[in-house]
Amino acid sequence: MQNKLETVVNKASEVDVKDIDYIEMYVGNAKQSAYYFSKLYGFKVKGYSGLETGNRDFVSYFLEQGDTRLIISAAYSSEHPIAKFVMKHGDGVRDIALLVDDVESTYNNVMQNGGIGIREPYEQKDEQGCLKKAVIRTFGDTIHTLLERTNYRGSMLPEYESISDKYDAPDARIIRYDHLAVCVEQNREWIEYYENVFGFKMAQQFDKDDVSSKTSSLMTKVLQNGSDKIKLTIIEPAAGEKKSQISEFLEYNKGPGVQHIALLTEDILRTVENLQKSGTEFLYTPDMYYDMLPARVGKIDEPIDKLHKLKVLVDRDEDGYLLQIFTRPVQDKPTLFFEVIQRKGSRGFGNGNIKALFESVEREQALRGNL
Ligand code: FE2
Repeated sequence: MQNKLETVVNKASEVDVKDIDYIEMYVGNAKQSAYYFSKLYGFKVKGYSGLETGNRDFVSYFLEQGDTRLIISAAYSSEHPIAKFVMKHGDGVRDIALLVDDVESTYNNVMQNGGIGIREPYEQKDEQGCLKKAVIRTFGDTIHTLLERTNYRGSMLPEYESISDKYDAPDARIIRYDHLAVCVEQNREWIEYYENVFGFKMAQQFDKDDVSSKTSSLMTKVLQNGSDKIKLTIIEPAAGEKKSQISEFLEYNKGPGVQHIALLTEDILRTVENLQKSGTEFLYTPDMYYDMLPARVGKIDEPIDKLHKLKVLVDRDEDGYLLQIFTRPVQDKPTLFFEVIQRKGSRGFGNGNIKALFESVEREQALRGNL
C-alpha cells in the first residue's frame, strides 16, 4: 500500500524534449567520412572544427541537409575518447542530441526520473550568443546531449567555423530524421528508461507478430516523444533458426548502438534515383517482390515498374502506406546503415516488408526447384 502511495507522490517529472537537433558520429577519418556523406548522401559540409580553429584534440565536420544535421568527428590521438570509441565499435553514432527549451530544468527532471548524468549543464559562447548543454547517458556508449538554443543565433554550434561546401553534393531531398533504430540485448530495460526518464510513450501499432521470419527473428518496440518528432525503434534479438541480423550487429558493434538512421523525403523516387547515380549502395530486392506487390499493398500512386527499377519497398497499414529502401552498411563492419523513407499516411516502420522479402526469396527459390 505504502509503495503504491509513494509511486503516486513520486510521479515522474515532466521532460519536454522537442526534436533531434543533430546526430554525431565518431569515425576513424572524419575528412573522408564527411566527403562520403556529402558526395553520396547529399549532405552539405557547412562547418569545421580542428587544429586550424584551435581545436587541438579532435576534428569535426558539421553537415546539413534540410533539417537533418550530422556531425562527423575523429580524434587526433589514440588516447582520445573518440579513438577509444572507434577502436571498440568502429564508426558509429555517439550522440543523439536533443533540442530542449530549458537545459537546466530538463537536466534536473531527467536526473530526478533516474537518468544517468554524464555532464551537468554548461555554456558555450561565441559572437552569436550562448548555447546551453548537458549530457545524459543512454544505451551502450551512446549519449544524449541536451541542447538549448534560446540565446544562440547561429544555426550550427559555437566551436565550428563556417566553410563553403566544395563537394557538389547530389540533390537528395532529405528533409529531416524520421526515426532511429537501436539494437539492444534486452529492450525492456531501455523502454523503461525512455518511458521513465524522458516520458516517451510506446506506440500502439507495432505489436504484431509479423516481424519475424524463419531466418531472422527480432523483437521491436517503438517509442516516441510527446511531439512525435523523435521516434526510436528498439530492437532486441529473438531466437531464430539462424543468427539474426540483430545478433550480428551486437557482435560487431560490441554491444548496443544505433543500427540505422532513417531519413525522410517527400519524393523517394527522385531521392533514390539521385543517390544511386552518386554511388550509394542499396540492398538487393528480389524481382518476385514486385510481382507480389500489387496484391499486398493495393492501389498506390507510384508506378510499380519505377519502384522495381529503383528497388524501393512499399508497406501498407490502416493509416496509409509508406515507401522505403535500406542502404548497405556505411563502413566495413555490418553495423550502421541508413534508410530512406517517404510516408503517405502510414506511421509505421515497414514491418510487412520483412515477411514480404522473405516470401519473395522463397518463391524465387521454389521456381528454381530448390525449395
Ligand atoms: Fe527503419
